[in-house]
Amino acid sequence: MRILGIETSCDETAVAIVKDGKTVLSSVISSSKDEFADMGGVIPEQAARRQIEYIIPTVTKALLTANCSIEDIDAIAVTTEPGLLVSLLVGRTTARTLASIWQKPLLEVHHTYGHLCSVFLDLDEEPAFPCLALSVSGGHTELWHRTSHAMGTKIAETRDDAVGEAFDKGAAMLGLPYPGGPSISRAAATGNPEAYSFPSPLKDERTLDWSFSGLKTALKYTIQENTDYNVNDIAASYENALCAHLVNRLQRATSEYNVQEIHVVGGVSANATLRRLLTETFPNHTIRVPKDIVYCTDNGAMIASAGYFLQSV
Ligand code: KG4
Ligand code: ZN
Repeated sequence: MRILGIETSCDETAVAIVKDGKTVLSSVISSSKDEFADMGGVIPEQAARRQIEYIIPTVTKALLTANCSIEDIDAIAVTTEPGLLVSLLVGRTTARTLASIWQKPLLEVHHTYGHLCSVFLDLDEEPAFPCLALSVSGGHTELWHRTSHAMGTKIAETRDDAVGEAFDKGAAMLGLPYPGGPSISRAAATGNPEAYSFPSPLKDERTLDWSFSGLKTALKYTIQENTDYNVNDIAASYENALCAHLVNRLQRATSEYNVQEIHVVGGVSANATLRRLLTETFPNHTIRVPKDIVYCTDNGAMIASAGYFLQSV
């Protein structure tokens, strides 16, 4: 079964064709993120305007790259929520129109569920269920207990900012370009993660939830109090604190849930420090991240995969 997946929830216009939920035949991503490098974040109206410009050429390119004609497509999957309203609308309207004129079923996919399926893309072996799945992006930070490709329960989430948002806002405070995750990582690569100390949020609470707003405030005060700060050291210390908080909760979760695998998905799963901390902390678990780094951030392939597994329940 070949599904064409459309993802337009933010500043990426992404279209892909995926066979049987796993084999990526094409994955095309047009992005306006470079336009926001100096803005500290996405300007919704500008991102939506680019979605309108990019969507049809991106659909066309995805079909051409996969060497598929319209007859080869069995269904169309699209992100319905959450995200920037007008950007989402561009994808939904395109998907509905194509489904109607091509006479294909339309599969509606929640963005987070799409990310959760990104670990199945181009995967040869079967994952071991049940597993824990950490989904970390600019819009959400959630922990899921998953029992199959399509089923699962959310067991924890952030009480305030998403971790990706903490990276993005932190980068803006440090004068580093948007998106903040990669730019903080680049600066952190030559910094000392122990140069500045940051608090451990919610450390005395028996919860699996996260809170990132305190770390963001701590960064603001660290910058104010150390006018001659070293940007690499502060980026490394902040990145380390964000990742340590993520891993700390996960450690608690593994003592409550008996699982062999931990999936880590979403834009922040591309982070090298997070990946290293996870491997060090969980030597007896399989840490599964998306096979290709491009499947960490928003893409159409994860939406096509999610559409496949949803309709096969
Ligand atoms: O999943 P995604 O593409 O979009 C949302 O669903 O939000 O995630 C984007 C987020 C941004 O906040 C970005 O700064 C962060 O993922 N990100 C990273 C890295 N690459 C992207 N955060 C940390 N390290 C990275 N290497
Ligand atoms: Zn996303």
